[in-house]
Order: sequence, then C-alpha cells, then structure tokens
Amino acid sequence: MEVLQVHKQRKPGASTSSDSSQSSREATSSQFKGQPRLPKFAVPKRYDIHLKPDLKACKFSGSVSIELDIVADTRFIVLNAAHLSINPASVSFNHPDSSKVLQATKVGVVEADEILVLDFAETLPKGMGLLSIRFDGVLNDQMKGFYTSIYEHNGEKKNMAVTQFEPAYARQCFPCWDEPAFKAKFKITLLDVPSELVTLSNMPVMEKKENGHLKTVYFEESPLMSTYLVAVVIGLFDYIEAHTLNGIKVRVYCQVGKSNQGKFALDVAVKTLEYYKDYFDMPYPLSKLDMVAIPDFAFGAMENFGLVTYRETALLYDDQHSAAANKQRVATVVAHELAHQWFGNLVTMEWWTDLWLNEGFATWVSYLANDKLFPEWKVWTQFLDHECSEGLRLDGLAESHPIEVEVNHASEIQEIFDTISYRKGASVIRMLRDYVGGQKFQNSLASYIKRHAWSNAKTEDLWTALKEGCDEPVNKIMNSWTKQKGYPVVSVKMKNQKLEIEQSQFLYSGSHGKGQWIIPMTLCCGDYESRKSFLMEKKAEIHDIKGFFSDTDKSSDPARSWIKLNVDQIGFFRVKYDEALGAKLRYAIENKYLSITDRLGILDDSFALCMARQMSLASLLTFLGAYQEELEHTVLSNLIKITDKVGRVVADAKPELMNYIKQFFIGLFLYSAEKLGWDPKQGESHLDAMSRGDVFTALAMLGHEETLIEGTRRFHAFLENRNTPLLHPDIRKAAYVAVMQKVNTTNRTGFESLLRVYRETDQSQEKVRVLGSLASCPDQGIILEALNFALSAEVRSQDAVFGLAVSKEGREVAWKWFKDNWDPIWKTYGSGNLVTRFVSSVVSPFASSEKVKEVKEFFTSRTKPSMARTLKQSIEQVEINAKWVQSIKNEKQLTETVNKLAIRKY
Ligand code: BES
Ligand code: ZN
Repeated sequence: MEVLQVHKQRKPGASTSSDSSQSSREATSSQFKGQPRLPKFAVPKRYDIHLKPDLKACKFSGSVSIELDIVADTRFIVLNAAHLSINPASVSFNHPDSSKVLQATKVGVVEADEILVLDFAETLPKGMGLLSIRFDGVLNDQMKGFYTSIYEHNGEKKNMAVTQFEPAYARQCFPCWDEPAFKAKFKITLLDVPSELVTLSNMPVMEKKENGHLKTVYFEESPLMSTYLVAVVIGLFDYIEAHTLNGIKVRVYCQVGKSNQGKFALDVAVKTLEYYKDYFDMPYPLSKLDMVAIPDFAFGAMENFGLVTYRETALLYDDQHSAAANKQRVATVVAHELAHQWFGNLVTMEWWTDLWLNEGFATWVSYLANDKLFPEWKVWTQFLDHECSEGLRLDGLAESHPIEVEVNHASEIQEIFDTISYRKGASVIRMLRDYVGGQKFQNSLASYIKRHAWSNAKTEDLWTALKEGCDEPVNKIMNSWTKQKGYPVVSVKMKNQKLEIEQSQFLYSGSHGKGQWIIPMTLCCGDYESRKSFLMEKKAEIHDIKGFFSDTDKSSDPARSWIKLNVDQIGFFRVKYDEALGAKLRYAIENKYLSITDRLGILDDSFALCMARQMSLASLLTFLGAYQEELEHTVLSNLIKITDKVGRVVADAKPELMNYIKQFFIGLFLYSAEKLGWDPKQGESHLDAMSRGDVFTALAMLGHEETLIEGTRRFHAFLENRNTPLLHPDIRKAAYVAVMQKVNTTNRTGFESLLRVYRETDQSQEKVRVLGSLASCPDQGIILEALNFALSAEVRSQDAVFGLAVSKEGREVAWKWFKDNWDPIWKTYGSGNLVTRFVSSVVSPFASSEKVKEVKEFFTSRTKPSMARTLKQSIEQVEINAKWVQSIKNEKQLTETVNKLAIRKY
C-alpha cells in the first residue's frame, strides 16, 4: 500500500493532483500553494481523534474523523499536516444523508506550506460531511508537536509523551485546520496506553477501558476551541489537588515524589482563578484545570485549555532550594497562563497578527493578579524593569516591528513571540488603562469577553469595546502605538517660565524616524499632588509653569522645584530633560523626593540617551552617583543591568579606566550590600531577599575582593552540607559567580565543584543557577569548557541557553564556539524559538564594524526565516555599540569624571 510521507521533499513546481477544472471547481491543487491562510470552503466543526502512542519506540499511529461544513462548491479539501505519514487509501469523505463514501482520488502534499490537498472525483455536496484520515507519526525529541520528554523513575530513564501545539504544531500530531480562527470541538481517545501511566488531556476522562496491562482512555468532548490549545500528556506523575470556591478541580502534577513542590503553585492557581472570575465577570470555562511540570519544555509554560504545561522551574517551588526570585517566577507564570484561559482560549485572536492580544494582555493581567495576591512584592514597580524597560530597549531599534505585525507564513509566527508582543504589548495596555481609568477598563474588558466568548477577535474589537465603555477615542490613540513600530522621546526645555515639550521618534542608532504618537502625557511639579494630564500630539507649551506647582513657593525651593514628565512611567516613551531640569531631578533623587517608579524611569531613560549618544557617559556616570543610597529592589536591579553594560562598553572604549569604573560601581552597591548582609533577616521583605542575591552577584562580577572571599567561604560550607544555613538559595548564584572569578585552567577546583553541584541536584532551579554562573569566569579556556558543557548531553537542550551568560572576556570565545558548533545548534534548536536566543546572546555584545561584517558574512548562507529578524536586530545592536564606543573614545571630560567618582566615599 502506498503511504505518503508529508515530510518528504517534492520536486519544486510539481503538481500534487490532476489539474482537471471545476469552480472552486476551477481550482487546481497548485493554487493552494504559497498561501498564508487555508481556503475557507470547508469548515471543521468537530474532531474525533484517536491516538495510539508507543512510548518505547517513540512513534504513534492515529485516526481522525472531522465533521466538516462544506460551504462552497469544491472538489478539494485543503488542510494542514506535517511530518505525518498518511495512508491515501484511508482518506474518505462521507455525506451523512447518503450512504455514499467518496475516496480521495489524490492526496497531495505541499511540504513547504505544510498542507494536504485532498482531491475527490466529484464536487462535494454542500452541508455537513465526515472526513476520515489515518496516519502515523514519530514522537520526536524537539519539544514541539507530539514529543517525548525524559524522566527518571527508580533509577531508570523513561519517556513521557507530551504535546506542544502552539503556534502551528497540532498538524504534526493529526491533520487539521491549524489556524486559530477554525474553532471546533475535540473528542480525544488514547489507545493502548500502559495502565500505570497518568493520561491527561484538556477535558476530564469520560471512560476508561482496561485490557490487561493496557488501557484505552476516552476524554469528554471539549467546547469550541482552537487547535493550538489541544493537549495530551502521558507519563508517571504524582499530583495534589484543591478546589476553587466554585468547585473547579485544580491539580498540580509533578515527578513522583515531588508533589510537595507543587503546593505553592496550586495555592496561587486557586486564588488566581477566583480573582479572574471576578475581574472578567465570567467563570472559568471548564470543570477542571490541570497543571503539569514537564522536564523538557521549550518555553516557560503553555496555556492549553484545561491542561497547562510548564517547565519545572516555572511550576515547582522547594522551600529548601528555591530562591525568592524562583517563587515570584512561579506566581507570575501561573497567573499568566491562567489569564489565557479567558484571554486567548475563550476569546482567541483571529490570526497571529493579533498575537499581542493574547500575550501582551496575559503579561499585563498577571501583574494585576500577583499584585492582588502579594501586594508586598510591589509588582507594578517591577513591571517597569521587567517589561517596560525591555520593551523600550528592543523597540528603540530600527529593526523592531509594530505590535500588530503582518504574518505571511507559518515559519514567521514563532519569531513574533517576542519582547514587542509581550512587553511592549503589556506596557501599552497599562498606559491605556491608566488613561481611561481602572473601573471603566475592567467593565469594557468584561463586555469584550462576553461578546467574543467561544469565538475570535481582532485588535479593533478590543478598541470598540473600550470606546463604548469609556467614551474616549481609544482606537485613534492606540493605533498610533500598535500599528507603527518604535516610540517617542519627549524633549523638555524650560525657557523663562515656559515649558516646551516636543516629541520625536527615539532610535538608538541616532537616525531620525518619522513616527508620531498620540501621547497620554502627565506631569508633576514639586510634588505628586500636582499631577496634570493631557493628550499630546506633536508639541505642547506650558506658559506659566509656576501655576502647575501646588504651592507656588516650591518652584523656587531648590529641593522642590523639580518637574517630572511621564509620572510613574505610565507612558511607553522616554523623556529627555534640558540640563537645568535634569539637575533638579538629580537633586530630587538624592533627597528622596521621587517615587520608586520615577527614579527607575529617569535612570533607564538616561542610560538609553547615553547609548544613543544624546548624553555623554560622564553625565550618565555623574547621574548614577545620585543612586548611591538606593535600596529599592527594582531600581537596584535596573542599576545593576546598566552598570554591567557600561562596564562592557568602557572596557572597549577606554580599558585604562576600567579599574576606576569598577571601583565606582562597587561603591554604588556597597551601601545596599551592607544593609542587606549575606544572611536572611527575620521578617524581611521578599524584595530585600531578591536584592540580596542581585547585589552580591553584581559585586562578585565586579571582582569585589571581600565578596569573592565571603562567597567562596560560604560555597565551601555548602559543598560540605547542601543544607547549610550559610548558603541560602537567594545568595547561591552570587557565591557561584564569586567562585568562578578565581578559576582558571590551572586552578579548576571551583569549576569542578560547581559541576558536581549540577550533577548531584535533581532540582531544575539549582541546575539553572549553576549553568548561569559557569561562563561568568574571566578565563577563556574555562569559558570554552563551560560552553561545551552547556551543549553536552548532561544539559537538557531546554537549558543550554542559560549557559550563554558569558563574561566580557568571553565574547570572542563564545563567537568562535558558536560558529564551530553551528551545525549541532541549528539541528537541535533551528526549528524552535531557542535558536534566536543563541544568536542574540552571542552576537549582541560586540561593538565594532569589523564584527558586523564578520557576522553578516557568517550568516549569508545560514539565515533562515525563523531567525531573520533577530539576526538583523542583533547586528543593529552591534552597530549601535560600535558608535557608542567611538563617541566615548572622543569624550574629553570622561577620565577626570571617572577619577573623581572613583575616589568618592560612599
Ligand atoms: N503561549 C505562550 C507559550 C508559547 C510561547 C507558545 C511561544 C508558543 C510560542 C505562553 O503563554 C507564554 O507566554 N509563556 C511564557 C511565560 C510567561 C510568564 C511570559 C514563556 O514561555 O516564556
Ligand atoms: Zn502567554
């Protein structure tokens, strides 16, 4: 019997079926090639899927019966399939009103478009019909489609089978209309699964039939949903369970023996479901929610309807070995994925162009939920560092893209799960919500959800609901943020008593963009009671600024004469102050008059302006001095990122200043380090616990001698006893980095000991901490070993990217290593999202035009659509760095400023 391999290459241009003509009959199968979307003449309503996995042999067979509505005359049915072997004789179409079964006369495969073109001898009757197909597939090890993940049980390695279908991999498991707008009902059956294994899918089990040591499991039929949300998990697990107030059954599944580590996520999930029910004014749509930790997982987590899958680090929390940052990560990821159950699963984007509706929104709302559950985490201040600042960083590149982005091919979808869709998306939602007001925003969302439940929506539909609910020209304002890339920098000048404000596009490259935005502008003068808001287009002038101070006397008090725009950093833009206004803000920061968010915003903007060569490095460094007594977690975290990047650029531009720069930065962090100490304090805040780790890690990276000694001492205690109180999980990374600073090829003990820690732990967070410190070493030989270790069989391929955090001494080694290992890297990561992480981590740190040339040359024959944008962005970053280095080389005042700052006592 002939079996068609969907993944086999066909000759280019060869037709897959006879070209006989009919209306959509006129169609020939070749007309379906190269189209971004499937034709709509057949619409799937219900899938009955049978899968029979063989976990040992890593393969599966299956069959699918799809109830179709034929809505236009056609002789063809076109649907997706990839990497499946399809038995052409099994493809049949059955009209319910007649007993006639039509066999497909031709089953054509267009590999490049991942479609099947089924050709029938006669026009299919309009109305409902049943399409049946049998197929075979491979359980792959690529963490997508239907794949295997490896776990250990009683010392034995075993396979579990897992699905990951977003964005377009359901087609690797069963033939289907694999686009988000083709919602249908799914009834799943798993055949001949070993009885001892746990079998999970979106819906609860309806029936189980045991047959010796095998079982067949029938799941209930799902409500309407998109293919990318269908899921199956088969393996050995323990679980814990709880119920929401409304009786939704929530379970966390983890490796046998680890269920204690699921408790925190379970508790967060129950509370978050209750919170969203109220917030969206709509109950959770299914009767159960399962959350499963998967040992090999390409992303952080995946929001499959009713069956959310997670990387272990994003679900498990261990009292003994997790850090405060790990705890927060779990809460954030759970809140994000559960938000999708409404925003994404119940109401789904119509096409991937509107992906940001899913991801930007879930990112934003996860903060709302976490803020409710953990107000002491001050997550909205952290939002600025994690989301906004990162969004502004990427979107300041000319190679960025608009939030609403054209997607023409399945291979382009993966790459838009990026900082723009998530972080800029979340940031513009936050901006809009502030502008229209929290209550109106919430009410409008609730009506949007009701209106589009079980269906699909576009960005426009969200604006319409908001416009109705808020009586504001929401679409006009928001189009300027979602339909064009980039964002503005607002320049502010004070002339006499007149404040002049003007926007232009911010680009790190220094080029002049043409973008214009409608900016929800806010400003405060001297205190936070004086807040004023207005919508700003190109320019604004405020004539009598004195009148904006709540107490006019303050305008002449040097401590209270500051003026801050973009109050609390609500807007997605930057502000550039003239020198006098900048000096006043600096004074206000030193005297602690400004809010956390404003301190952070000014810091982040100043750094960006410096990189864009609109502010000298000397000015930036002087400005950083205002943060010498900073204790707030988010601000410290931003400061650490900035000092790292400044350190790297100075090493290129003025290596002779490096020691002074280091001394200055050490001075900046010693204040908080002394306050925090190495040991946890009774009753201290979650944020201080996180800062402790960050600050000591920063000091270790800077080579601060006392930190290196203390970190190493504590590490030795840890080697003796993994439960020593001397090395709390919050400070482990700092100690590991400290140890690595002294390692070299002749003194390898620290490195070997860390590898031992890696090998001996079964805790993913611990493994990631070790991996993230190995290449922080200044020694090039060790860096190379660390990079090789990351790609070795000892490291799960999901984790290798954590090993790419290379010290500034390791840039060239990493690049050479990357080129030498391109083939295995591409083979393992090429078809997924992780390859872009390799490209940006290895390329972006460079800072010369020679390197730009070299990188371009290397990739001439190697660029693929799935990484094209990331590569361009990374190259642009190198060009920006190169210009920055050049301008620092030319800075006259720099040496003097650095000397002065370095000897100041903090
Ligand atoms: N839907 C995504 C997972 C995903 C990402 C699928 C890319 C396909 C391609 C999921 O909701 C998600 O966004 N996960 C994040 C975690 C979140 C807390 C930002 C992730 O995986 O990093
Ligand atoms: Zn998401």
